[in-house]
Amino acid sequence: MTAELGTTTKTIKAGARTVAPAVDCLLAGGLVAFPTETVYGLGADAGNGEAVARLYAAKGRPSFNPLIAHVADLKAARQLAIFSADAERLAKAYWPGPLTLVLPKRDDCPVSELALAGLDSIALRVPAHPVARELLAAVGKPVVAPSANRSGHVSPTSAAHVLSDLGGRIDLIVDGGPCPVGVESTIVACLRDSIPTLLRPGGLPREAVEETLGHPLVDAPATSFEDDAPLAPGMLASHYAPRARLRLNADAAHNGEALLAFGPEIPGKTEHALNLSPRGDLIEAAANLFSHLRALDAAGARTIAVMKVPREGLGEAINDRLARAAAPRTTS
Ligand code: TXA
Ligand code: MG
Repeated sequence: MTAELGTTTKTIKAGARTVAPAVDCLLAGGLVAFPTETVYGLGADAGNGEAVARLYAAKGRPSFNPLIAHVADLKAARQLAIFSADAERLAKAYWPGPLTLVLPKRDDCPVSELALAGLDSIALRVPAHPVARELLAAVGKPVVAPSANRSGHVSPTSAAHVLSDLGGRIDLIVDGGPCPVGVESTIVACLRDSIPTLLRPGGLPREAVEETLGHPLVDAPATSFEDDAPLAPGMLASHYAPRARLRLNADAAHNGEALLAFGPEIPGKTEHALNLSPRGDLIEAAANLFSHLRALDAAGARTIAVMKVPREGLGEAINDRLARAAAPRTTS
């Protein structure tokens, strides 16, 4: 029942009888893609090193990149990590929701070393999506889940995206429809007594986190801690790359370019154009970002001209992902 590469991937619709087969599959060491409010995750039993190894293989992810452990609630999270006062405040304010906390792990933390890439910290998240919540409650132990895409591709916001990246490489996809937030969770590190650090802008705006803390977040240094592992190693420059090149802050599409637009005023006529949000709404734009990038990529455009997106609120995460998608490739 567990995934070997070349296996058949089954898709089931989220509904009354969905979680039982998904739970059985996870507990047997299988790989299950499931919806969260941010993006689809590829789940494995966090304590099962072999399942975690298969998960890295299915994604084609370098195994030095640690995974987020997903749990049902704050009580379960407290068994894995040490919460500072700031971490408690953030967890109480935003869990369940699109916030991941990186915390010192407990000595008796059952999550496999491989999933943590040997770090003494752990990334924890309590997702808000009803299917994810039901699944995690029923499994009753932590589930590690990176975004359910091949390493280097944009994150999946629908079951069809997951199938196109991972079909034949994982056991099961639970189809819960499109993800409402559309960009990955915001990652904040609360380590030792230091001021909380923003490791990745995401689905929870920085402004909300800072208001709860009562002071600004520290921004993660572009450099590394310890042995050259980036602070959030998934933040490698070209992590979110589509096939097409991206030209950012474009006023209009040039000849032959596709257009990723934002707002009511679309300059000129373009054969392939998609609008992140015709009404200029950043929440709607985040929800559409990855599916529009995939669709324009699939239309075969060599270059996608991207209109300017404001930086406030979810605009910080949108601009971050666009900059990564536009960065020079580390692989082809
Ligand atoms: O919204 C999300 O966070 C989605 C859904 C499925 O929950 N998950 C997700 O996971 O985006 P992933 O693996 O694609 O990205 C997790 C990021 C990576 O950049 C990883 O390096 C970082 O979290 N990370 C994990 N553990 C860490 C740690 N202990 N210290 C610093 N960064 C860590
Ligand atoms: Mg990812």
